[in-house]
Amino acid sequence: MSTSVENRGQFGSKLGFVLAAAGSAVGLGNIWKFPGKAYANGGGAFLLIYILLIALIGTTVMLAEFVIGRKTQKNAIGALRELNAKYAWIGGLGVLTGFIILCYYCQVGGWTINYIVGYITESSVVYADPMAYFLDMLGVNGFPLKGAIIFPLIFLALTSFVISRGVSEGIEKLSSVLMPLLFILLVGLMIRSCTLPGASDGLAYMFNVDFSTVNFNTFLVALGQAFFSLSLGMGVMITYSSYLSKDENLVANTGIICVLDTLVALFAGFMIIPAVFATGIEPGMGGGFAFATLAGVFMAIPGGTIFGTLFYALLFFAALTSSVSIMEGTVAFLVEEKGMERKKVVLSVSVVLFVIGVFYTLSQAYMDIHGVWWSIDGIQFPILGDFMEYLTDRLLLPLGALVTTVFVGWIWGTDNAIKEATSDGKYEFKLAPIWVVMVKYVAPIAIVCILVAGMIFGMAIS
Ligand code: PHE
Repeated sequence: MSTSVENRGQFGSKLGFVLAAAGSAVGLGNIWKFPGKAYANGGGAFLLIYILLIALIGTTVMLAEFVIGRKTQKNAIGALRELNAKYAWIGGLGVLTGFIILCYYCQVGGWTINYIVGYITESSVVYADPMAYFLDMLGVNGFPLKGAIIFPLIFLALTSFVISRGVSEGIEKLSSVLMPLLFILLVGLMIRSCTLPGASDGLAYMFNVDFSTVNFNTFLVALGQAFFSLSLGMGVMITYSSYLSKDENLVANTGIICVLDTLVALFAGFMIIPAVFATGIEPGMGGGFAFATLAGVFMAIPGGTIFGTLFYALLFFAALTSSVSIMEGTVAFLVEEKGMERKKVVLSVSVVLFVIGVFYTLSQAYMDIHGVWWSIDGIQFPILGDFMEYLTDRLLLPLGALVTTVFVGWIWGTDNAIKEATSDGKYEFKLAPIWVVMVKYVAPIAIVCILVAGMIFGMAIS
């Protein structure tokens, strides 16, 4: 492993970075969140809006984060501080957002392990009533010991283990093997799902672009989902690109990662939604899409249980490479800025986020049903889980992306950014004039409009 900056890791190869960054981007967001959002927000029209937002705003913000990270070779807060000390808080906002996301991310990561074990040991129980199995994991029938404590704890322990091994050894190795495998399996399952009897209604739904279902809320959901899925708006890509050597082509990397991530989301959508129509399972609370509905696909294929196990194993790995990246954002900050020891930081961060995270799973069903505190006088309090996702997807991530574009466009300056993007001297950045307009005007204005309109009008509509 080569190190350009003392005591800091660096990605060992070009492919290593692409895979690690794609590993961060591709995760539960693509497979667990995206299909559900596409389904609930009108199918085809949502897909179009999503792709448009990725192409215009996602790519712009990603390159902005990449240049900040590689220029400074520092964690998110350190990077912003170095460029302009007054704006270190932008990095701080990102670290906070990441921490909140990680609390629930590790829980859902734990659910994937629950399903791996479930398919291996009791697939007939899963098949008998997939929705009941899912809800049981969430605590409908009693305290969800496995869904909230045991499996999330295993997931978190694995995340911490990878993180404590450092950049090249841990993160890069893991992603290099697993990302290609995930891609192949996803395509295979998508084909099977689309050819199930009854799947054509699902396909029609996904291709039917009906703008009458679109409102401001749809845009805000799509925007938040785009940032979440691309790992943007919280400094993770700043941290990752800080481990990147100067002769990498940041512009090309941006394109590759955005395309890969979007493809995986679309494949997941076309794997899950046709299955929803074919099996008639209505996914219920807590994002049952990637969990309950797919049982119908696995039941319908020869060797389905093996494929099921493999699918959740890969979903688990996709989640792991993402959770590792989110945690790396927080850990890099505490190690580099506060001078704390890497392993100790990992342990203490893990304990706190686990304790908060437990309430996420509990709030999906258990607390609601067993009435711990939120149904007071018949008023349903925002369920903690929903609240965490609302806060991050609908507010903090768009806000983080907004301030990043304003910072790069107006404060640090696009000249400096372009200089960094082409610092290797080999690559031309032909689209630079377009990117300047995007980062200075289009992206910030669009984010503000969607955020404000989505908040004001979206709430009233939904
Ligand atoms: N992009 C990841 C996913 O889709 C989640 C993530 C969000 C990772 C933010 C890093 C930062 O699952």
